[in-house]
Formats: sequence, structure tokens, C-alpha cells
Amino acid sequence: MPVDVEARVIANTRLSPDYNVIALAAPDIAASTAPGQFVMVKLGRGFTPLLRRPFSVFEVLRTNGHVDGLTLLSKRVGVTTSMLFDAVEGDVVSCLGPLGRPFELLDPPAEAWMVAGGVGLAPFATLTEALRGRGTTVTLFYGARSGRELFYLDWFQARGVRMVLATEDGSVGDHGRVTVPLERALRVAGRPQKAAGDLPPSSEASAERRGDPPERIARPTLAGRGAQRPDLGGGGQPSGSSITIYACGPEPMLEAVAHLAARYGRPSQVSVERVMGCGLGGCYSCVIPVREGRDGWRYVRSCIGGPVFAGADIVWD
Ligand SMILES: Cc1cc2nc3c(=O)[nH]c(=O)nc-3n(C[C@H](O)[C@H](O)[C@H](O)COP(=O)(O)OP(=O)(O)OC[C@H]3O[C@@H](n4cnc5c(N)ncnc54)[C@H](O)[C@@H]3O)c2cc1C
Ligand code: FES
Repeated sequence: MPVDVEARVIANTRLSPDYNVIALAAPDIAASTAPGQFVMVKLGRGFTPLLRRPFSVFEVLRTNGHVDGLTLLSKRVGVTTSMLFDAVEGDVVSCLGPLGRPFELLDPPAEAWMVAGGVGLAPFATLTEALRGRGTTVTLFYGARSGRELFYLDWFQARGVRMVLATEDGSVGDHGRVTVPLERALRVAGRPQKAAGDLPPSSEASAERRGDPPERIARPTLAGRGAQRPDLGGGGQPSGSSITIYACGPEPMLEAVAHLAARYGRPSQVSVERVMGCGLGGCYSCVIPVREGRDGWRYVRSCIGGPVFAGADIVWD
């Protein structure tokens, strides 16, 4: 159940001239957040900005096992993200959440490949903690414009995440988009016998399209569609597990990842970032076309039907 709180800023860490991580004292939201969920945030009391903006919960903060708050990873692109960048300890942020449908988690021997583009890294810290807590093997394919915009590498490495990096200027990792090493690894891993993309839309998206209230929508069937494969791509470690791809980043990247996943017969879960006016299903600013039946499609509100969808469910063209 989402709660609306006035959260005090505990800390604000500037990572670069555009990126920052802001810590908010919002323990009630943090304690009930599942990986991939988001909060709607507003700073200041005036009309600028008029509406809250959506942000993935980046980290859940704990002291001695007690949940203290959460952090947001923000990239400065407009009025709210500039205010988040400039905020100081003690400032107050209106914070509504947790909202949206989270990622579906995997248990071993299934394996998670997370694909992050830029600030799309945000939902993958909580996902990593949840997956590693279940003993699931996690790989992060992380792309940015340059090595100066790759953040929290030590954080992920310390949690046993295998890292595959790519930068558009070639300063770190593969030269080019993150889909370059992803496709290479998918090719090495090979194609399982049953293709994920051949399956019908997930029950989650179908339920939202029918207009069922969010709390009555069945658990998503986003993962677990991949078949077994003989070995791991890229790392060379033998493994009999299936691979699920999780992605967050710019929509063209999500589209490319979903198409790659389908081509190599792997299930994908993508977190979309549509413009959101309310985050609660009331304004329809966030709709996305989702497949229905064999040839049909309908608009789904990504704030309640998503933001996480099966990549094969979205109509990308
Ligand atoms: C579920 C979800 C989670 C998100 N998580 C994060 C996060 O963790 N960190 C983060 O930095 N951002 C995140 N975003 C994106 C963030 O909400 C937007 O960038 C937001 O508009 C920033 O607010 P602003 O007031 O700073 O910029 P605005 O003034 O709202 O917008 C600045 C510019 O960006 C454009 N724009 C706004 N939203 C989008 C969009 N969705 N797609 C393309 N262009 C857009 C506007 O048209 C404008 O040109 C998330 C979005 C969603 C839907
Ligand atoms: S953001 Fe208002 S309906 Fe989705």
C-alpha cells in the first residue's frame, strides 16, 4: 500500500556534474519497496514543478538491520532533478510510494543478466540484493556515455555481481552501446530450444488491459520462460541454468534488448520510463502499447500495469 510522506533529506552525494544520490528519511516506503518499484517525488511548495516526478528506489538504507530510508539515483535533466541535485540535508521532499509492479525474482539455478543504460542503473541495486539473497547468479551489463558516468561499480562487485561494461567513447569496457557485449554473450550462450518471444502476453499486462484493479492482478509471469542452456556466455563458467534478462534505460535501448532477448530465445523484463503525471492510474499520461491475443494490442498504463513488462509484450514499433 503506497504512503505519502514528507521525507527529510539525510544526505546528498554528487557523483558528477549531473548525477547525484539523495538519501531520504522515508522508512515506511523503503521497508515495503520491492525491486523495480518507484516513488513520485516533488520538492518545494510552489507550482514549479506542478507535478511529482517518478524515480526508481535505488537503495534501501539500513542500520543494524533497521530500515532508515531510501536513496534515489538522479540525473539532472529538468526542474525536479535540478532541485534534487541542489538539495541539502534537512530539506523536505514529498514522496509517494512504493508504486508500480516490481521485477519478478529468480531462484537458482536460473541466472539474472541485468542491462542498465545510464541512470537506468537505478532499479538494479535493490534487485541485486534480492537476487543475491536467494543465491542467484547476477551479471550486470552497464553502459554509459563515458567511464566518468559509470557509478557504483565497487558496490555491485562487493555483492558478487559479474560486471560487463561498455562506453560510447570507448574509455572503459566495450566501445559502443551496452547491447554490443550483451549480444556477444547471448551468442555464446546459444539459443534454448523454446523461444520466450513465442509465448502469449503475460498475465500481468493482460489483467491491466482488462481493467482489473492492480491488487487483483495475478502474479506476473515475466520470468521463467527461458529453457535450459548448456553453458554461460562470456564468462566461460559451466552452468546449466536458464537466463532471464532485466533491462532499464532509454526506450531505444529497451527495444534493442527485448529484440535481442527474443532473437536468442531468452525472457526479458524491461522497466519503461514513460512520462508520468500521477503514478496512480488516474491520468493516462503513461500509456504504452502492449500486445493482446495473437495480432491485437491495447494501451496499458505503465504506472500500474508496469513499469516492469515482459519485453515480448510491448509493441515497440
Ligand atoms: C518509473 C520511472 C522511474 C524513473 N526513475 C528515474 C531514476 O531513478 N532517476 C532519474 O534520474 N530519472 C528517473 N526517471 C525519469 C524521470 O522521472 C524524468 O526524467 C523526470 O521527468 C525528471 O524530472 P525533471 O522535472 O527533472 O525534468 P522535466 O522537466 O520533467 O523534463 C526534462 C526533459 O525531459 C523530458 N522527459 C521527461 N520525462 C521523460 C521521459 N520519461 N522520457 C523522455 N523524456 C522525458 C521532458 O520532455 C523535458 O524535455 C524515471 C521515470 C519513470 C517513469
Ligand atoms: S501516471 Fe497517471 S495514469 Fe499513469
